Amino acid sequence: MKQSETQSVAQRIDFLRREIDKHNHHYYVEDAPLISDAEYDRLMSELAALEEAHPDLITPYSPTQRVGAAPASAFASVRHAVLMRSLSNAFDPEDVAAFDKRVTDALRGAGLLPAGGAVEYMAELKFDGLAVSLRYENGLLVQAATRGDGQTGEDITANVRTVRSVPLRLRGDDVPEVLEVRGEMLMTRQDFERLNEQQQKRREKVFVNPRNAAAGSLRQLDPRVTAGRPLRFFAYGWGEIRLRRKGGQVDLFQQEAGDAAMPRDTHSGMLEWLAGLGLPVSDLRRSVRGLDGLLAYYEDIGKRRAELPFEIDGVVYKVDSLAAQNVLGYVARAPRYAIAHKFPAQEETTVVLDIDVQVGRTGALTPVARLKPVFVGGVTVTNATLHNEDEVRRKGIYIGDTVIVRRAGDVIPEVVAAIPELRPDDARPFSMPQSCPVCGSAVERLEDEAVTRCTGGLFCAAQRKQSITHAAGRKALDIEGLGEKLVDQLVESGRVKSIADLFTLTALELAAYERMGRKSAENLIKAIDQARKPELARLLFAMGIRHVGETTARDLAQHFGSLDAIMDADEEALLAVRDVGPVVAGSVRRFFSEPHNREIVAALRKAGVEPVQESLPAGGNLPLAGKTLVLTGTLPNWTRDEATRHIMAAGGKVSGSVSRKTSYVVAGEEAGSKLEKAHSLGVAVLDEDGLKALLGMK
Ligand code: IVH
Repeated sequence: MKQSETQSVAQRIDFLRREIDKHNHHYYVEDAPLISDAEYDRLMSELAALEEAHPDLITPYSPTQRVGAAPASAFASVRHAVLMRSLSNAFDPEDVAAFDKRVTDALRGAGLLPAGGAVEYMAELKFDGLAVSLRYENGLLVQAATRGDGQTGEDITANVRTVRSVPLRLRGDDVPEVLEVRGEMLMTRQDFERLNEQQQKRREKVFVNPRNAAAGSLRQLDPRVTAGRPLRFFAYGWGEIRLRRKGGQVDLFQQEAGDAAMPRDTHSGMLEWLAGLGLPVSDLRRSVRGLDGLLAYYEDIGKRRAELPFEIDGVVYKVDSLAAQNVLGYVARAPRYAIAHKFPAQEETTVVLDIDVQVGRTGALTPVARLKPVFVGGVTVTNATLHNEDEVRRKGIYIGDTVIVRRAGDVIPEVVAAIPELRPDDARPFSMPQSCPVCGSAVERLEDEAVTRCTGGLFCAAQRKQSITHAAGRKALDIEGLGEKLVDQLVESGRVKSIADLFTLTALELAAYERMGRKSAENLIKAIDQARKPELARLLFAMGIRHVGETTARDLAQHFGSLDAIMDADEEALLAVRDVGPVVAGSVRRFFSEPHNREIVAALRKAGVEPVQESLPAGGNLPLAGKTLVLTGTLPNWTRDEATRHIMAAGGKVSGSVSRKTSYVVAGEEAGSKLEKAHSLGVAVLDEDGLKALLGMK
C-alpha cells in the first residue's frame, strides 16, 4: 500500500474513533443518543473492518478494544468475578449457516457430535435493554452491577433492589453459596409510554425509546426515583457459581474453568435451575436442532415481535451442552458457542426536508414530514405523519433537523425525536397555516382539541375527495376501479360533489376522463351498479359519520334494521345500542339533523341506492356468538391475528379493553394490566388451551 493511502486510512480510523467516542458519551453518560443504533453499528463495523485490514493501527484506546461502555463516575465500581462478554452478530441466514457450520465442524472434530448429527441449541429472545449482573450470597441479593466495560461496571444495587421482578431472596432450601445471575433489565412499551406521558406532564425529560428509559432509570442517583419506574428483569446467563456441598464444604464451579460439576449440564437446564430459584426467565425460549431449527425460531419470533410487550432486537442462539460450550470457547470477547441473530433495525436517523400540511376527510389539518429517504424496519420511508401542531412542538422538530425515525412491524413510520445538537443554522420552526392549504377557508382549533380543522366542509375539495374515496373503499361500498386519481378528476371537474353523484355517472361520460378506456368505464359502471344494494352497515360506514367506524356501523345496523329508523332515532334510542355511548350517539344525531346530509340520503335513494335488510347475526349456534373476548400477552402457539380470526369465525368479538361486559380474557405470557383488571372485575380468564376448548378445537 502506498504511503498516502495508509495516511488516509489512519485518518479515517481516527475520525471513526472520535465519532464513536462522542456517541458513546451521548448514549451512556447523557442517555440521549445522537444517532440510531444501526448507524452506530455501521461506524463500529467500519472501524473494525479497517482495523482488521491494518492491525498495526490498533491501539488499546480504540473503541473496538472494549466490550461496552466506560463506567461513569457517579456510582462505585464493581469488578465482575467473571467477565461479562458480548455476542457477535448475524444479520442474515448465511451468517447463521456459517455459525452453525463452524459449531458443527468443531464439535465433530472434538468427537462431541456424531457424523450427520445436528447440534442442539437453546434459542432465546435478544432483549433490547441493559445487561446487569446480580450477585446472590447464601440466597440473598447482595450486589447488582451494570456491565460497564465487561470487567468493571457500576454498583446499582440500591436501584435494582426496587425492581419487583428481581427476587431479593432466592427460593428453595438448596440455594447456592454464591450465584451471579446475568440478564437484561428492560421496560415494557406500555410502561415506557406511561412514563413519558408522566414526564411530559411534569415537564421533565422524555425518553426516545424503552431502552433509554430503562438505562436512565437504572442510573438514577436517588433509588426512590427508580422505584417509581416500572423496570423488569429477565435472566439469560450466569457468572460465578459456588454450590453448597453436603458436608458444608464449598466448591467454586466456574464454567470457564472447565468444571464439569455445574448444577446442570445444559444451558436449557441451567435456565430451568435459575427459574426454580425464583428468577424470571422468558417462556419464549425453545430447544431447537440444527440450522433449520434456528431459522424457524427466528421466523416465528419475528412474527410475534410486534405483539411482545417489550422490545427485542433479535434472537440469540446458544449451543445447549455446556461441555460443548467449553470446547468451543471464546474469540476475543465473544463466545464461539453463541450468536445474536438481529432483526432489521427499527430506528434510523434522517433529515426533515420539509413539513407539508394535508387535509383529511373530516377537515383535520395534519403536518407531514417529508424525509430524506431512509431504509428502516424493512422499507424505504420518505414521509411520516407528525399528527398535529402540539406534537411537532413537543418533539421539537424544525424543518432541516436530523431526526430519529422509527418503523416497528407493520406500524406506520413515526418521527420519534429531533436531535437539536445537529440542527443546521438555517433550520426553520413549523407553524400551522391560518387558512386551509386546499380551499383557503379559515381554520379553527377548538379549545380542548389537539386538531386544527378546515371549516370548509364539503366545500373543501380535499374533504370531498376523501369522503368519496372513503365511501368507495373495500369496507364501505366496495366500488372496485374507483381509485384516488379518478376521484380527484371527478371532484375537480365539479361532476361529483357527494357520494350520491357517483350513482348518476354514465359509462359514456366516464370514458372521457384521463386514463379511462371504454372497457374500464363500463366495468366501473358495473361496480357502481352492484353497490346500489349495499348492506345497511356498509352504507352507514360509507357516510363517514364521525366516530362511526366499521364495528359501530354494524352494531347500529343490527339494532335498528333500517336507515330510516337510524335517521329518526333520538339520543336515548341510540344509547340503547350495545357499545354506543354519548359521543357516538351525539355524532349520529348531529349528522342526520344536518339538512345537507338528509339531502344526500334522498339523492342516493333517487339514484336507486337502497340498503338491504341486515342479515341477522350469523348462526346463533356458533360457540362464541354474542361473546366479547380480550386478548392479552403472548400466546404459546397463536399470534394475536390468528387468535382473533378464530374467535371471529366462531361468532365472537375481540375488544381491546376489559370491562364488566367482557365474557373472557385470554391471557398469554407477559400479560399485564388487562389480566389484573380481569381479576379485579371477576372476568373469567383463559389460556390458549382454554380458548381452544371453547372453540371446540380440543
Ligand atoms: S448472552 C456470553 N443472551 O446482548 C454471552 N445476551 O452483545 C453474553 N442480550 O450485553 C450475553 N438478550 O445485554 C445473552 N438472551 C440473551 C440476551 C443477551 C439480550 C444482550 C446483553 C449483552 C448483549 C450481547
